[in-house]
Amino acid sequence: MACKVLEVKSLSKKFSGKYAIRNLSFEVNEGEIYCLVGPNGAGKTTTLRTIMGLLSPTTGYVKIMGHDVHKEREKAMQYVTFVPDNPVLYSELTVKEVIYLFASLRNIDRNVLEDRMYELLEKFDLGEYINMRIKDISRGTLQKLAIVLSFLPDPKLIVMDEPFMALDVKTQRTLREEIKKRARMGTSFVISSHVLPWVEEIAHRVCVIYKGEKVAEGTIPEVKKMLGASTLEDALLNVLTGA
Ligand SMILES: Nc1ncnc2c1ncn2[C@@H]1O[C@H](COP(=O)(O)OP(=O)(O)OP(=O)(O)O)[C@@H](O)[C@H]1O
Ligand SMILES: [Mg+2]
Repeated sequence: MACKVLEVKSLSKKFSGKYAIRNLSFEVNEGEIYCLVGPNGAGKTTTLRTIMGLLSPTTGYVKIMGHDVHKEREKAMQYVTFVPDNPVLYSELTVKEVIYLFASLRNIDRNVLEDRMYELLEKFDLGEYINMRIKDISRGTLQKLAIVLSFLPDPKLIVMDEPFMALDVKTQRTLREEIKKRARMGTSFVISSHVLPWVEEIAHRVCVIYKGEKVAEGTIPEVKKMLGASTLEDALLNVLTGA
């Protein structure tokens, strides 16, 4: 039986009395790549930030490996890492210092760290930036670092909000291959993205969110059929235009 890594149950979040997400439920299994798609303002970032315990839900709950993210935060967080849509890291620290700081916060063994770090730095072409301060690196390089940090502890679940944003074409491909490889080895992913061809390439299942609610969920062929379209892009356009 597939192992449930993430459970999102009847999740709602209101801001100033208005629902940003409403009654959202889904589950993500071990080794599954689950993608959230939907128009601007649909509620994707709100969902991901609530999964990470950065926002408290108005109703419902989130469990990671059976632990409630908001009630047993420390236990739940040991299984997950997050790539936010706008990564913020200590501006005065160097890339290497940030990596060591993150590793110590996640209790990664020093020997394991060195091997993983150099492998990831090479894979994402970050080696030359290792001694540069965060404030001096480019937006795309910062994005690559946030991605490397998410892989470093080898967590059960990786949550990524628009991870392909700002990445050059080579790194986009590296990231897609890395996500697929890690999923084959059992890592689960929840990823929001507007880049639908990549979603079609990597997602095992997608969740279409519109105005805070789940309007379709399933494999790519299932969602296309549900929304009466031959491409994911047309499926989303059908949702937007009410077709
Ligand atoms: N801190 C906040 N205070 C008030 N409203 C918020 C807050 N954060 C999000 N919202 C609102 O919640 C809704 C969902 O926003 P969210 O950022 O989750 O959308 P999204 O699907 O990630 O959009 P995008 O594709 O543009 O990233 C929007 O109407 C937004 O204005
Ligand atoms: Mg967003």
